[in-house]
Amino acid sequence: MEWKIIFLAAVSVFCTASVSCQSNSSMPLVIWHGMGDSCCNPLSMGSIKNLVEKQVPGIYVNSLEIGSDIVADMANGFFMDGFAQIKMACDIIAKDPKLKNGYNAIGFSQGGQFLRAVAQMCPNPPMHNLISAGGQHQGVYGFPRCPGDNSTLCNLAREMLNLGAYDSFVQDNLVQAQYWHDPINEAEYKQYSKFIAIINQENYVNQTYKKNLVTLNKFVMVMFGEDTMVEPKESEWFGFYVAGTTSKLYTLRESQLYIQDKLGLKQMDAANKLVFLTAPWDHLRFSDEWFIANLIPYMK
Ligand SMILES: *[C@@H]1O[C@H](CO)[C@@H](O)[C@H](O)[C@H]1NC(C)=O
Ligand SMILES: *[C@@H]1O[C@H](CO)[C@@H](O)[C@H](O)[C@H]1NC(C)=O
Ligand SMILES: *[C@@H]1O[C@H](CO)[C@@H](O)[C@H](O)[C@H]1NC(C)=O
Repeated sequence: MEWKIIFLAAVSVFCTASVSCQSNSSMPLVIWHGMGDSCCNPLSMGSIKNLVEKQVPGIYVNSLEIGSDIVADMANGFFMDGFAQIKMACDIIAKDPKLKNGYNAIGFSQGGQFLRAVAQMCPNPPMHNLISAGGQHQGVYGFPRCPGDNSTLCNLAREMLNLGAYDSFVQDNLVQAQYWHDPINEAEYKQYSKFIAIINQENYVNQTYKKNLVTLNKFVMVMFGEDTMVEPKESEWFGFYVAGTTSKLYTLRESQLYIQDKLGLKQMDAANKLVFLTAPWDHLRFSDEWFIANLIPYMK
């Protein structure tokens, strides 16, 4: 079988000698868009996909579409139960043959906490690096502004929140209520939040969530330094308001979540798996240069 050896040698010489030779060995990437956005908007996720494809030649990118089309995808970002969305995402990922050997993932805004839930709940195929760009890991206690060009759905969401975030109708029908975290009413939050309190193991510790999360290679959390859309922005690094206050903040390392290591974040920290980045702009407003320098390295 000498011809095989010669062939392989020839290929490797060709590949090292030629700039155009692509090994296509990069890991695929899964993207989850934020609130008010969809999988394939050419101005948002579409341009991110193009940027990644240009920076990592040959990479396969699956930008998750939660629903049958982009209109449903955008509406589902407001009105589809969080765990139903996670299940849909896990099914898409499991059924995509190009992801079967594992993938990196980047979530934008609420897509960040959703992909963390995917990592906790759906270990097959395995997620390698998780990048959360402005994800609200401790939930939110305010949406001062609406993202995107069309505020209709966002304003409707806000009106529903005004009815009472922990009202059972609102919890059943509004995603943002499911990650609403009221520090003045922590007990209510823990009892009634149908998404974030559960994935953060507030009442019950599911060891499977922890076992799965710690298998990540890196968990990269981007906080936007000038964020005017998420309150508090420190939630993007797992910080939040001290119970009973709306001004005093604790950090991840000061949280019970970390101290009791309910999610394995302390263990991951000790293994240097947590990466905290600050992007010095408003919500999701990073530059291409910043994205390339800071995030592309986790997508290779
Ligand atoms: C590598 O990826 C490029 C772009 O997706 C594709 O055109 C090419 O056929 C792939 N090469 C191999 C060897 O798989
Ligand atoms: C723990 O989480 C796993 C993964 O989502 C799930 O299959 C299992 O049913 C959960 N266990 C309990 C007791 O809720
Ligand atoms: C905003 O979105 C709503 C709901 O999808 C739609 O009815 C409305 O026409 C949109 N407005 C604009 C200005 O695009």
